[in-house]
Amino acid sequence: KILIVDFGSQVTQLIARRVREERVYSEVVPYTRAAEAFRTLKPKGVILSGSPASVTEDFSPRAPQEIFEAGVPVLGICYGQQTLVAQLGGAVESGHHREFGRAEVEVKSESALYDGVWRVGEDYPVWMSHGDRVTRLPEGFSVVATSENAPYAVIADEARHFYGVQFHPEVVHTPHGAGLIRNFVRNIAKCTGDWTMAAFRAEATARIREQVGDSRVICALSGGVDSAVAAVLIHEAIGDQLTCVFVDHGLLRLGEAERVVQLFRDAYNIPLVHVEAQELFLEELKGVTDPETKRKIIGKLFIDVFDAEARKLKERDGRAVDFLAQGTLYPDVIESVSFTGGPSVTIKSHHNVGGLPERMNMKLVEPLRELFKDEVRNLGRELGLPEVFVGRHPFPGPGLAIRCPGEITAEKLEILRHADAVYLEEIRRAGLYDDIWQAFAVLLPVRSVGVMGDGRTYEHVLALRAVTSVDGMTADFYAFDMNFLGRVATRIINEVKGINRVTYDITSKPPGTIEWE
Ligand code: XMP
Repeated sequence: KILIVDFGSQVTQLIARRVREERVYSEVVPYTRAAEAFRTLKPKGVILSGSPASVTEDFSPRAPQEIFEAGVPVLGICYGQQTLVAQLGGAVESGHHREFGRAEVEVKSESALYDGVWRVGEDYPVWMSHGDRVTRLPEGFSVVATSENAPYAVIADEARHFYGVQFHPEVVHTPHGAGLIRNFVRNIAKCTGDWTMAAFRAEATARIREQVGDSRVICALSGGVDSAVAAVLIHEAIGDQLTCVFVDHGLLRLGEAERVVQLFRDAYNIPLVHVEAQELFLEELKGVTDPETKRKIIGKLFIDVFDAEARKLKERDGRAVDFLAQGTLYPDVIESVSFTGGPSVTIKSHHNVGGLPERMNMKLVEPLRELFKDEVRNLGRELGLPEVFVGRHPFPGPGLAIRCPGEITAEKLEILRHADAVYLEEIRRAGLYDDIWQAFAVLLPVRSVGVMGDGRTYEHVLALRAVTSVDGMTADFYAFDMNFLGRVATRIINEVKGINRVTYDITSKPPGTIEWE
């Protein structure tokens, strides 16, 4: 086991992720609870995270001193390195040379930390983000790698197995960072690497049971992977104390509602309330063209409908709903706070069931909060969810409403649904589905003139979109073969009444966003 002491860095969970990739169990614990966790967990190694704080400030956080006295290997990252130095008798000063972004480190001598990864005498790119730097080493330490602005880029006390790095090995912008973390976890801390998603499943169900006791939990199912995995996991933990509520707002893709209901009711036998609210949503969206207004209306209606269902549940048998379950992932948590700590600009109001817990006086159950999308998919597989379900592209909460710029009508939704289904069918048939992060059609509020048979047509224009991405934060358009696009366009124009022209969107994010609204 590895204990990760969190000093509040935005990327602490990435350390946990890298450790999980080595199949080693880790726990992220805020520094305030680190002493207690160190005693109960008895870790084989400790990693100290970065922080927005400065070691040179009064009252800045420290690691429990006993960690350094227990004979356990310690790796300090950025702020973690600085507090390690300060706590062991070295010195840190506020940097006049701040370093953000890419830097090069030069490896000066051998170290167990980069054994087999970096070679002495070579330069390697790393990702830095720091204002302070170490100026005097504690006893027993030596500098093993340097960078231009951080002479103490990597420091080591090989005898005590203490290591400090000024850069962030946990981020992908440090290309060999994962290798350094592997060395620390596997070779230095000597963890065996037998932890798996099966173990996560067992631990998570135990945690859920402990958190909710015999209370009632409801979960909003969106039809997407995250909420489905959360629901199946929670059901495994507490059985029919869980009720799922699936609000069908009529903005789903072709056949989607049926698939969700079938999967949950029939395959998993999880109590499910299927709310048919299509007319209500269409009615409230009538005449609305502004994207943010659409999002806000949908978000609010969703909460209203969900709230009403939860109350009905309570009225039926007198048992209150104490917990709301959500499939929140780690990127949802970081994206909601800006990197600089300042107020971030709202690009789009993301739709979720936020706001509900306060209104209904419910507590949250979020068993996937530490995981990343690909890990959630693996957990879904572990729970036996079908591959076609687990591997699905993300789908936004406001659904087709934000893929239909301009006013939304039942007729337009019908056209869009049909065209989207043809597009995705062709993508699957060509074996491209898993190479693409997300692919969908957008029905434009523009008509164009065409000729079909001997007649003139004046119909809608459809835009196709497909992007590659790692996390949805940035994206590139997918470079389809032109023949493929031609085939899709022909099929759509022939088969979908109401469309006579198809275009392909070649905008990346930024400057575009993935969705059109
Ligand atoms: P954008 O369009 O902002 O989208 O580049 C990034 C990712 O987020 C999805 N998305 C949403 N997901 N509720 C969601 O659950 C929303 O309101 C929402 N808006 C966008 C989008 O599909 C893409 O995967």
